[in-house]
Amino acid sequence: MKIKKIVFATGNLNKLKEIKSAINIFEIVGLKDLGITEELPETGTTLKENALQKAKYVYNKTGLNCFSDDTGLEIESLNNRPGVYSAMYSGADCNAENNMRKVLSELKTFQNRKAKFKTVIALILNDKEYFFEGTVNGKILQKKKGNDGFGYDPIFKPEGYKETFAQMSIELKNKISHRGLAVYKLVSFLNQEELGL
Ligand code: IMP
Repeated sequence: MKIKKIVFATGNLNKLKEIKSAINIFEIVGLKDLGITEELPETGTTLKENALQKAKYVYNKTGLNCFSDDTGLEIESLNNRPGVYSAMYSGADCNAENNMRKVLSELKTFQNRKAKFKTVIALILNDKEYFFEGTVNGKILQKKKGNDGFGYDPIFKPEGYKETFAQMSIELKNKISHRGLAVYKLVSFLNQEELGL
């Protein structure tokens, strides 16, 4: 069985860019290429549920093999918030700036700035569901640093590195990030399927 093309079910163009730069043996098809412009449903209470919900929506609509990811930032001092609610953290006016502002303000009085990013990828391949996970540990800085990346990247410094995700090349971020690690597992799996192992 040949898997040459696979749909990445995301409306987030930054994620699409990251995944396209991480996977070069399969053609990654974005939602725009399929004329899907509506927001994908994301009403679960876990990353796994949300990832599967988005992948299923696109699979049911197109019949094409596809995968989706859901990511959350877990901050130790905030009892692992924002977690699965990372996208909407600042409420009605949520966007990356407001979300980061809220996190920085909530963490003001805390010494412990430990945090982790988690990604779950849900793949639907020929009607079967598969999951791949990636985690990266790090800490939340006192203020934003760097202009690249997206979301919470300017305030997250991965363990063992001096720079934030927003100060890194896309290649380095992909090598060490939550999504990069989950994608690596996905690609290894797709390669095995491709070879019929
Ligand atoms: P979702 O996976 O698209 O639901 O993303 C949840 C939230 O985490 C959104 O606010 C994203 O901007 C943010 N996010 C997802 N992936 C990353 C990342 O790699 N770096 C920083 N923020 C991210």
